[in-house]
Amino acid sequence: MEKFDLTVLGGGPGGYVAAIRAAQLGKKVALVEKKLPLGGTCLNVGCIPSKVLLESSDLYHKAEKEFSKHGITVTGASMSIEQLMARKNKVVKELTDGIMILVKKGNIHLMSGFGRIKAKGLVEVTGDGGIETVESQNILIAVGSEPVELPFLPFDGEKIVNSTDALSFDKVPGSMIVIGAGAIGLELGSVWKRLGSKVTFVEILPRVAPFADSQASKMLERALIAQGLEFKLETKVVSGEKTDSGVVLTVQDKSAGESKLEAEKVLVAVGRRPATRKQGLEEVGIQLDEKGRIKVDENFETTVPSVYAIGDCVEGAMLAHKASEEGVACVEKMAGLSSHVNYNAIPNVVYTEPELAQVGITDEEAKAKGVAVKTGKSYFKGNGRAKSLMAEDGFVKVVADAETDKLLGLHIVGPRASEMIHEGALCIEFEGTAEDMGIMCHAHPTLSESLKEAALAVHKKAIHG
Ligand code: NAI
Repeated sequence: MEKFDLTVLGGGPGGYVAAIRAAQLGKKVALVEKKLPLGGTCLNVGCIPSKVLLESSDLYHKAEKEFSKHGITVTGASMSIEQLMARKNKVVKELTDGIMILVKKGNIHLMSGFGRIKAKGLVEVTGDGGIETVESQNILIAVGSEPVELPFLPFDGEKIVNSTDALSFDKVPGSMIVIGAGAIGLELGSVWKRLGSKVTFVEILPRVAPFADSQASKMLERALIAQGLEFKLETKVVSGEKTDSGVVLTVQDKSAGESKLEAEKVLVAVGRRPATRKQGLEEVGIQLDEKGRIKVDENFETTVPSVYAIGDCVEGAMLAHKASEEGVACVEKMAGLSSHVNYNAIPNVVYTEPELAQVGITDEEAKAKGVAVKTGKSYFKGNGRAKSLMAEDGFVKVVADAETDKLLGLHIVGPRASEMIHEGALCIEFEGTAEDMGIMCHAHPTLSESLKEAALAVHKKAIHG
């Protein structure tokens, strides 16, 4: 039996990145994936296809609702769902093909099939061609996560759908209820609303994107309501029933009591859970926590020596880039390098319009931790570039340590927030201060000038504030 240095289970952004980095470090690597092409949820049915749909639907929405404000007349604009989906599939294919090439280039032994750890150093791969066993010094588990199902609303792929289904509708549903106003719900709800669906959110908590800064979340909610999205906050789904034309949900509002909601489709986006069930992990001694996540130490090593785990199946944010960072750090540590992941500097983005992006902590979180902070804010309505882009909704908020001035958090709601957030990540990574961000020259006119203004506002030195 051929022996490897490392076997990676799972070819998503955690696993394939770890495999490539290990190969760069001279390791002999086997990569096991149950569902090719490589790329996992992110590339195949997550981050990437959703971004394609968001971009195209945004252009369509702008052509219909905003071009006239620029003096552009568009008559008879229409959207071909077939072409939209074809472009989405093309983008996904080009990227996943690219990863297959990288894996080949790294001389990584790709195995197609379901990998199961049999014992320390031994993985059994069940594929179309039968069962094969692979032996390696180390094993890295990067099996990701899966959508959470509500027990009384099982997915049927037609009327009660998950995020994967909602990326591939063949026509615009007349109406859609989205359960959960988190990242997935807000992004996919926005797509189908822009294309013509009536979209209503049911969210159990009092705000949208509950993980975000509360003012940012409020600002985003207002902007989305202005686009025609409806929100039923502090509302719980109690039961659901399929009808000939769709689904009827019984919901319980905190103040108004029980009522019925009906729609053609229901998208359940109430979170994801680690894909650690039916993997046989516990049988070999790998311990899980109460949420089903694999327990790991500071080296990402599980309770079984030489078996490691990273990404959505361990503790922390379920984000592709967090998984990739962990994958790299994990294999570098295996190779004796001193790598680490700075969890304070991991950005989180919701790609709505306006976008919401954050890195570090909110002032509410700082308060809860007993850390005194100062904040500074700048609104895009005072930003020349935002005005010319006709994208004035939103603001930037800087959170700095009151004593040391170190940047602790950056929160942006606004145009292309996803691209600007990295200035905050960089500042946190290099332990920079609000003053550093404020004295740095920012090109004019740019959206990024609002970051400088917000940083200056921490010390009441904003010029336009
Ligand atoms: P999420 O945890 O972000 O949001 C789920 C929402 O559902 C929460 O607001 C929660 O309060 C609500 N909820 C939970 N149970 C409910 C119920 N029974 N009734 C009504 N509301 C309920 O989860 P989501 O959006 O499904 O995303 C899963 C993971 O994928 C997250 O960790 C997210 O960060 C990640 N993701 C990241 C994206 C990005 O970075 N742009 C895009 C998509 C997903």
